[in-house]
Amino acid sequence: MLKLDTNLLTFDLKNLIDSQTQELSKILKNLESRSADQHDWVGWLKLHENSETFTEIQEFADKIIESKNFENLVVLGIGGSALGPQALIQALKSPLWNELNHAERGEALKVYFIDNVDPDWANGILSHLNLEKTLFLTITKSGGTAETVSAFLWAKAALKTKVGHAWKEHFVIVTDPHKGALRKFADKEKIQNFAVPANVGGRFSVFSSVGLVALALVGIKIHKFQEGLIAAYKDLVESPDLNSNLAINLALALTHADTKLGKRINPLMPYSTHLARISDWYVQLVAESLGKNPQVGPTPIKAVGATDQHSQLQLFAEGPLDKIIFFLKVAQFKNNFAIPSEVVEGFADLAGESMARLIHAEGLGTAKALAKKGVPSLTIELPCINEQNLAYLLYAFELMTAIAGDIYGIDPFDQPGVELSKKYTYALLGKKGFEQYLKEI
Ligand code: PA5
Repeated sequence: MLKLDTNLLTFDLKNLIDSQTQELSKILKNLESRSADQHDWVGWLKLHENSETFTEIQEFADKIIESKNFENLVVLGIGGSALGPQALIQALKSPLWNELNHAERGEALKVYFIDNVDPDWANGILSHLNLEKTLFLTITKSGGTAETVSAFLWAKAALKTKVGHAWKEHFVIVTDPHKGALRKFADKEKIQNFAVPANVGGRFSVFSSVGLVALALVGIKIHKFQEGLIAAYKDLVESPDLNSNLAINLALALTHADTKLGKRINPLMPYSTHLARISDWYVQLVAESLGKNPQVGPTPIKAVGATDQHSQLQLFAEGPLDKIIFFLKVAQFKNNFAIPSEVVEGFADLAGESMARLIHAEGLGTAKALAKKGVPSLTIELPCINEQNLAYLLYAFELMTAIAGDIYGIDPFDQPGVELSKKYTYALLGKKGFEQYLKEI
């Protein structure tokens, strides 16, 4: 499905894989056996098996869309509870989706994300929406994240004022099946909700209800993601051929460049604006999963081609030689604008070309120029941007991260470093029980 080009790496990946086949197969088997454990964090490996979830969410979304009761979807969530659906919506929908009319959207909902506690930003969105036509999707696995819960409480109060008793019909909650304050609340108030499997954590949850509900409500047929996940599982987990395994190749490239070559800065650079937010999602996945040891671990960076050729490329090319770049190439764009062949003085080189040829040439040209400067890179090629290929790609990145965690000897599924900042925050707010942190500040 997806192709990998490693010609511009300065090291031989095949050799690396061949010299560790037993260890790598063991890592994959271990992940697979952990995926069945409800108390572990590897449930994401087999989300494609939850056909009922895909069907239930699709049916729910279809009903909402058909009802025409809602025009706007406001997603309240942060981190792993927002970045996945944001990335996939930007990848698959028109940049002007929210400007399209009902018919052009097929009655599917416009979508807005509130993933911060910036009051001006939240107000900028909410003060212009007709709340009577707005559905709030609150996503929080833990059910207690301050940023999300504060937005939820605000929206609940605003809705009560606007629509009275009907406020509950304006909410959908995605949270843990058993734990957390929001689970209790959803059950008690009988609010429409979907469970995130207990053994799936935030940044690995995009193909659970965390991503799927929003994606279905904007009119995406979510079973197509399931198809991509099934293909990825077959190729990347079940197949014994490690050399063609995208996740294994990526994990070895990343860890080898970091630990053996001192190249630990890892830009992900899609040559596509539609894929720009995939880089945001990737940065969180890699940073929060693998950033746990002062001695090792990649620092992921967001970049977009060709845009960042005019921003970060100078640094990549001639700055410290500490980078390994992952490029994403889209082989076939849906559109391809021809650059008119009429020759305007000074622009003859572009006449008769097409935008797709130009962006492909820019991507390859940049990769080659970087290789010449001693900057290794690899390119992952998507045949086109569609649900199946995106599911395959994101799954491969998740698996890459889990494998790299094993190679580094760290747990990629927790995030203890995030906790302390929450405690200081509550101390600064003067909350009981956090006094000792205030003294340390
Ligand atoms: O990847 C993670 O686990 C985190 O980034 C979480 O997604 C983020 O902290 C939000 O957590 P929650 O979904 O519990 O609100």
